[in-house]
Amino acid sequence: MKINIQILKSEFQLCFGREPRIFRAPGRVNLIGEHTDYNGGFVLPMAIERETIVCAAVRKDREIRVYSVNLNAEGKVDLNASEQKRRGSWLDFIEGTARILERNSLSLHGADLLISSDIPTGAGLSSSAALEISVGLALSEISGYTIDRKILALAGQQTEHEFVGANVGIMDQFISALGEKEHALLIDCRSLEAKQIPFLTNETAVVICDSNVKHELSASEYNVRRAECERGVEILRGFLPEIKQLRDIGIEDFEKYAEHLPEIIMRRCRHVITENARTLKAAEALKKGNFTEFGRLMWLSHESLRDDYEVSCKELDLLVEIARNCDGVLGARMTGGGFGGSTVNLVRREILEDFTKKIAAEYERQTKIEPKILVSDAAAGANEIIDL
Ligand code: GLA
Repeated sequence: MKINIQILKSEFQLCFGREPRIFRAPGRVNLIGEHTDYNGGFVLPMAIERETIVCAAVRKDREIRVYSVNLNAEGKVDLNASEQKRRGSWLDFIEGTARILERNSLSLHGADLLISSDIPTGAGLSSSAALEISVGLALSEISGYTIDRKILALAGQQTEHEFVGANVGIMDQFISALGEKEHALLIDCRSLEAKQIPFLTNETAVVICDSNVKHELSASEYNVRRAECERGVEILRGFLPEIKQLRDIGIEDFEKYAEHLPEIIMRRCRHVITENARTLKAAEALKKGNFTEFGRLMWLSHESLRDDYEVSCKELDLLVEIARNCDGVLGARMTGGGFGGSTVNLVRREILEDFTKKIAAEYERQTKIEPKILVSDAAAGANEIIDL
């Protein structure tokens, strides 16, 4: 399923009659640290070997003309015309990214773009972030700028907030812009400081199981969870006036004051606070190559997301249960926003083939839905492809 960049390049030449420059940005899987980013907390994602490719060349005017291979659709954004937000289509990502870059004092040239992606949509693997980051990188580079990667990531996030209408955290855009091959990235989502942690998968592989379901609830419940976390902070601030976000509360302090929270809010906060602690522990375990401990934290993360944060669903729980019954699986959990999408599994290499067969067959037997299985090493973040 790898994209043939040579073919893409020839298509571009055919369509637009000149040589493009070529840019890419990967999707991501989050290993641990779920629903912590918008609480100022910690996440530990890696970029995956699925990506969005953008062929790009400058135009003389200020129009961005774009063709999507996946959608077989074309569109146009005129940077001299007034902004258009929330069309409800893929053009929101393109227009948003361009407009936000311009607000960051980049003066963009018009461009012809040809876009192709092998990141499945709706699988919780950040196809949207990859689109924003690849297009943002392409537009800024062909306009003569070397953009700071954190600014690029923030522009992607702002695009989601303003142009798409999704109130997301910074994780997906950050890892797509700043990931490194053979590394997971521990991101402090408040300070935006990040540490690359070597992650070689020669002994334990990362297996992503796409449940192939996406429940309607995901967007609305995401915002409800955010609001519940904020409410929790408000109440807890009555006891701990110095706190700003759930990130600022340790488990001990939380336990002291938890009884003052309404039951649902208490569970939401408990997830975030314990998940932050698990993420930091998981990063330490990864540094030491202790995959058994890493896996243990993944199981716990899933339980917390299922029971306290309530963003899992029966299909994701089933995938995790099947994994739990396979010897050689060190850990599994839902990954991304939830209510469908994928699970991430840490699997010993020797059982890899058996595992992928077993989980696919068993999931399909029980749900009549065919899952998609993807094994991925940690890939590099966005860049220009120079040597083809
Ligand atoms: C989505 C959002 C991220 C993050 C995750 C949950 O992927 O885009 O910012 O909040 O959900 O961890």
